[in-house]
Amino acid sequence: PGEEPEPVVPQAGSSGLALLRRIGVVDPESLDDYRAHGGYTALRTALRLGPAGVIREVTEANLTGRGGAAFPTGRKWEATAGQPVRPHYLICNADESEPGTFKDRVLMEGDPFAVVEAMTIAAFATGCSRGYLYLRGEYPRALRRMRGAIDRARERGLLGRDILGEPGFDFDIEIRRGAGAYICGEETAIFNSIEGYRGEPRTKPPFPVERGLFGKPTAVNNVETLLNVPLILTGGAAAYAGTGTGGSTGTRLFCLSGQVRRPGVYEVPFGTTLRALLDLAGGTTGELRAVLLGGAAGGFVGPDRLDLPLSLEGAREAGTTLGSGVVLVFDETADLPDLLLRIAAFFRDESCGQCVPCRVGTVRQEEALRRLVGQRVNSSGEDDLALLREVGRAMRDSSICGLGQTAWNAVESAIDSLGALSGGASGTTTEERV
Ligand code: NAI
Ligand code: SF4
Repeated sequence: PGEEPEPVVPQAGSSGLALLRRIGVVDPESLDDYRAHGGYTALRTALRLGPAGVIREVTEANLTGRGGAAFPTGRKWEATAGQPVRPHYLICNADESEPGTFKDRVLMEGDPFAVVEAMTIAAFATGCSRGYLYLRGEYPRALRRMRGAIDRARERGLLGRDILGEPGFDFDIEIRRGAGAYICGEETAIFNSIEGYRGEPRTKPPFPVERGLFGKPTAVNNVETLLNVPLILTGGAAAYAGTGTGGSTGTRLFCLSGQVRRPGVYEVPFGTTLRALLDLAGGTTGELRAVLLGGAAGGFVGPDRLDLPLSLEGAREAGTTLGSGVVLVFDETADLPDLLLRIAAFFRDESCGQCVPCRVGTVRQEEALRRLVGQRVNSSGEDDLALLREVGRAMRDSSICGLGQTAWNAVESAIDSLGALSGGASGTTTEERV
């Protein structure tokens, strides 16, 4: 793949930058510059605290996963560290394939040594001797920067044996690239991909913390999740937990795209309202029609939810999820039925086909939607709507992995909260457009 255009990275909200503080400031190819900007102080703190101390800090900070599912990181690390079987593996999930998600790319391109340091701290806490950075294949600049950072760190004894003079603390990182399949970002599909099998998810439980890569205990963490850890160690768990809301601590990176004036990655404390976030991005280009939160696996909210606090609790209450931080904005010119068809086609295309509810359900969902969108001008389409709901429930209840379980979320929310199929902006049917 060729070189990508520079992403737009505006500055953050009123509380200032934490995760993005070095982006555009530090030289991403210089380890010395990274150190001059506070790099590797957190790893020294981690060595002083010891593995249990690091996990205690992460747990007290109430850090939750930023890949999409918001699982408590401290619990995951404690479960991995406690497994008697050796070796333990660490995987940094940098596959970032959720439509509308581009925050991890910004972090890896702009602050790659921080990813290496954060992975090293995670490995120390969980007893991992080997780490894999599973990187989205379509990120050539991130690949180059991460390769450079790993090589520089190894040359300076920050990867390898007895890191920073700590006897027996051996850890190294290998990069593995995805090849364009959305499903390969699912953690157990990553295991298959690294092991050389088809990128298909495995059933859970057993959870990776117990049986993961090569059948060994494995901690899988998203890039943004890991980059919160140095902040927790240098600033203290209490200070970290003081940002955000009671149930959602720290800041969150949101990827704003679509019909906003200044799209890009924004960092704000959890609990910031949707209205404030959109204001940071200069507002919408036209009259706001809908916002897709959490990506294709998330859900739509309408303009009546602008005061929604962007926290795990707030999203849950609104019937959606913050997922991987997607905030995809649509104004009154957007053709929502057409968008739903694209989402349905995406899931049909990306389903790995391993289990029936998802393999068949994503096809049936797209077919029923296509009929509904085509008929919407002159038919109630009640049968197809009922079919759509039934297929959606079946996928949610009985699919093996998150893809099938969430393939109906966005479509359902668009129908129920936006009335997306009861009239479209363009007023045309799909058949007319085709
Ligand atoms: P999940 O809920 O199955 O698991 C979340 C994490 O918690 C996993 O690491 C899992 O191993 C761990 N876990 C759950 N229960 C556990 C237990 N009892 N003990 C130990 N560990 C446990 O969710 P999943 O399928 O990993 O992620 C789904 C999310 O991924 C969706 O919300 C979606 O938004 C997001 N996603 C993000 C993408 C991106 O590009 N960042 C792409 C696609 C989906
Ligand atoms: Fe594959 Fe879909 Fe089943 Fe997941 S839910 S294993 S993507 S067929």
